[in-house]
Amino acid sequence: MSQGVLRSLARSFVNGGNRGGGGGGGGGRYVLGTFEAEFGRRPGGVSCGVIFARRMLSSSATEPAPIDKEKKQSASAEEEEEKKKNGGGAVVPSSYWGISRPKITREDGTEWPWNCFMPWETYRADLSIDLEKHHAPKTFSDKFAYRTVKLLRVPTDIFFQRRYGCRAMMLETVAAVPGMVGGMLLHLRSLRKFEHSGGWVKALLEEAENERMHLMTMVELVKPKWYERLLVLSVQGVFFNAYFVLYLLSPKLAHRVVGYLEEEAIHSYTEYLKDINSGAIENIPAPAIAIDYWRLPKDATLKDVITVIRADEAHHRDVNHFASDIHFQGRKLKDSPAPLGYH
Ligand SMILES: [Fe+2]
Ligand SMILES: [Fe+2]
Repeated sequence: MSQGVLRSLARSFVNGGNRGGGGGGGGGRYVLGTFEAEFGRRPGGVSCGVIFARRMLSSSATEPAPIDKEKKQSASAEEEEEKKKNGGGAVVPSSYWGISRPKITREDGTEWPWNCFMPWETYRADLSIDLEKHHAPKTFSDKFAYRTVKLLRVPTDIFFQRRYGCRAMMLETVAAVPGMVGGMLLHLRSLRKFEHSGGWVKALLEEAENERMHLMTMVELVKPKWYERLLVLSVQGVFFNAYFVLYLLSPKLAHRVVGYLEEEAIHSYTEYLKDINSGAIENIPAPAIAIDYWRLPKDATLKDVITVIRADEAHHRDVNHFASDIHFQGRKLKDSPAPLGYH
């Protein structure tokens, strides 16, 4: 009874709403189609009722035609087709807005399975980079940065010990923050001051994205437990804000801290590789995402993945120490071309 009243109220609301606007009709029909498909898929009276109400409010004045069996079958065939196109992921409805991803293939002609990165963002890691380079702390702020990072390593060593997979996964959740914070603040500065950033916005955001890809790779190898997820939440809350304030106060110190954090990351991945070489950690096949992202051979292993990630960390170390040095010399980042695409 009350559902009938609600329906007629919704119908009159929709009818009224559509009187003035002819342009929304097509959109309404598209949304309607989507919800019809959803309506058909979802069992349960309550959720169906909610969907029905949403469908009424989103549709045009025209009463929807009943969904016959044939239409349902053709819709599910289309869904299957879409599913195949999206590498078996969630179904993406054809877009009213005209947005669809063109067919992308690998060099060997096979279909590109990733939505999170594209073939032109992949690269071969430069493994010739010097892993031993170290910025010797001389000034007070350098010593402060160095000691802070060394101090942060103590609880990390105690918590993770030699569980390097877990350690790497957790640390990557932190490592992807500074680039985003620095990039965001430089972006805002560029807007505020009506000036170019010298490529540094892009360079720092590239670093953040690269670190996030390290994390996306590590989660294929190690599944985080509930308390580790909780730890990530708290650490992110604290670290994001602390780094944000630090970057506002002293970008020189902020980049130096990251430079030293990256030196520690190189050390951690070197220890990880030692355990793989000794057999303490099994040298399992590389995850598919890593093979495509770093253009690794199909038979690449965990050892290859850790080797390229370590090379990335060495590049981040250099970029951040370089940025800190620019500030130390009293110059601005925008006046020193950023190392774009530097992996
Ligand atoms: Fe990383
Ligand atoms: Fe890094």
